[in-house]
Amino acid sequence: MVVSYKAHFRVWRGNAAGGELRDYDVEVNEGEVVLDVIHRLQATTAPDLAVRWNCKAGKCGSCSAEVNGRPRLMCMTRMSVFTEAETVTVTPMRAFPVVRDLVTDVSFNYATARDVPAFVPPAGLAAGEYRMRQQDVERSQEFRKCIECFLCQNVCHVIRDHEENKPVFAGPRFLMRIAELDMHPLDAAAEQGLDRQRTAQETHGLGYCNITKCCTEVCPEHIKITDNALIPLKERVVDRRYDPLVWLGSKIRRRRD
Ligand code: SF4
Ligand code: SF4
Ligand code: FES
Repeated sequence: MVVSYKAHFRVWRGNAAGGELRDYDVEVNEGEVVLDVIHRLQATTAPDLAVRWNCKAGKCGSCSAEVNGRPRLMCMTRMSVFTEAETVTVTPMRAFPVVRDLVTDVSFNYATARDVPAFVPPAGLAAGEYRMRQQDVERSQEFRKCIECFLCQNVCHVIRDHEENKPVFAGPRFLMRIAELDMHPLDAAAEQGLDRQRTAQETHGLGYCNITKCCTEVCPEHIKITDNALIPLKERVVDRRYDPLVWLGSKIRRRRD
């Protein structure tokens, strides 16, 4: 027998001009997730409620929002984590401009992605001839589990409360991408004059990150963004800066650039 109860929801309704939290009492059935309840609201009392979603399986990264103040995927947040008496408050991601209701404009992330130069294939090797050690493959694979939900971007205090930092800070998702490429044994960016460590620091704002690990805590793919990407990238930048020979070499290279 399916157990049902009435839950109390507060959902942010509005647009770029402003909005408010509205109260709804809505049926919840055993086994449901927050997105099921949002869909029931659409089907019953709030047919114009805007929400973005696609897979309902935690894989498309579309249904990001804040549930009781915590950035989460609505489709992966079980109603059983709340008591029946608890009010469930659903608001849009705070770091990005609202389009309508729970839908935000995440185009900042797509623009930032375009600013990170892609993998540069090694010269003289055809596709199929690339060889890497298994541990290098596994390191990349962890980062490639990213579903681009942008919850890490949303929670990072550097841009969450500081819109003015967006032009100079790429955010954890893209600093992780730079770290992945910088640690990639076959990436030939340096041979083409691209210094990924330097651009991480000087263009993408690595120095703003103070390794609070908030990004890691909200990642639905459990990627260790801070420990495995951001801290190693910072270490590589610092090693280089304080190694006198490497420092001298980079100065000479910069003068030639
Ligand atoms: S660890 Fe760095 S990137 Fe992650 S949330 Fe904290 S400041 Fe932002
Ligand atoms: S790193 Fe994790 S939290 Fe950030 S966008 Fe990718 S999947 Fe989402
Ligand atoms: S609907 Fe695809 S991740 Fe939630």
